[in-house]
Amino acid sequence: MSNSPFQSVCTADTIRNAAAALKAGHLVAFPTETVYGLGADARNPIAVKRIYEVKGRPSDHPLIVHISSINQLEKWASEIPEYAISLAKTFWPGPMTLILKRGEAAQDFITGGQDTVGLRVPSDPIAMALIQEFERISDSAIAAPSANRFGRVSPTSSADVREELGEFLYKSDFVLDGGNSPVGIESTIIDCSGDFPKLLRPGYVLEDDIMRTTGITVKQNSGLQKVKFSGSFDSHYSPKCRVILEGVPLPGEGFLALSDVPTPVGVQRISSPRNVFEFMQVLYSSFRRADHLNLPTLRVNLPNEEGFWVAIKDRVLKASGGD
Ligand code: TXA
Ligand code: MG
Repeated sequence: MSNSPFQSVCTADTIRNAAAALKAGHLVAFPTETVYGLGADARNPIAVKRIYEVKGRPSDHPLIVHISSINQLEKWASEIPEYAISLAKTFWPGPMTLILKRGEAAQDFITGGQDTVGLRVPSDPIAMALIQEFERISDSAIAAPSANRFGRVSPTSSADVREELGEFLYKSDFVLDGGNSPVGIESTIIDCSGDFPKLLRPGYVLEDDIMRTTGITVKQNSGLQKVKFSGSFDSHYSPKCRVILEGVPLPGEGFLALSDVPTPVGVQRISSPRNVFEFMQVLYSSFRRADHLNLPTLRVNLPNEEGFWVAIKDRVLKASGGD
């Protein structure tokens, strides 16, 4: 890609330079344990505006602010319920985002004008080093959505980021390389702005885990959604090919299934993950691979089970254009 942005393996120098770039208003795409994020200074409205332009995302969709620890919570959030503290202490750093009533630092251009803000402490060491360094040199944190074009598949490698956004990034932006994202799908999002936690997006942190931690049953988010929530659109996380969840794959179709499910004759096997964790990890790269192979259809075979499969099914249904 001729105009691809600067891409780096991460030394301590790179982290320092990337944090300085954030402070100067540039964008830094970085690895997290879930998917790659496209970061900007969460207190800089011009830098944040560029995130929306690069993603092609409507500007009233709120962003997640990435902070280094629970100690930063009070700056970005207010009226934090006890159960949210308990969740944060248990699952941070990690693949969980909490929606809380916003604090002084979270302005309209981050929250999409809502009175809540999304916060996450990622566990990926590069993400953590970048956030810590940026917090050290600024009085801010890193706003970052997934580093894909609006409605498309989240990136799980730095090569995916360049494929998605390379033509929209400048030489002064960074794409940090941290290998393949170990979780592979976006964080669990829990709305903590009310009396009880509510699940907005399933992910690696399960309702059962939350039940064990807080003793509270997480409510399913049902009925009308009052906030703009891009992952809640019927069609999201979509590759170009048609994704189908049911039925037997036909000759010429792509096929993603656990390794013990055989491949029918004439069908192109895209990936054969051995368990649910590998399935989660390769889901998005399988979507991309099907597109690279120009397959019209990708048939995804999921076992009819709960637990981690719930989040995978959520993404496959969204990718298939409805649920
Ligand atoms: O794993 C992740 O969460 C990744 C990594 C980079 O951290 N980030 C991510 O961001 O998936 P994004 O913007 O692609 O998806 C976050 C979702 C969006 O659908 C957004 O609308 C929702 O979180 N969200 C953010 N703030 C919110 C708020 N205050 N209320 C409700 N939804 C919110
Ligand atoms: Mg996203």
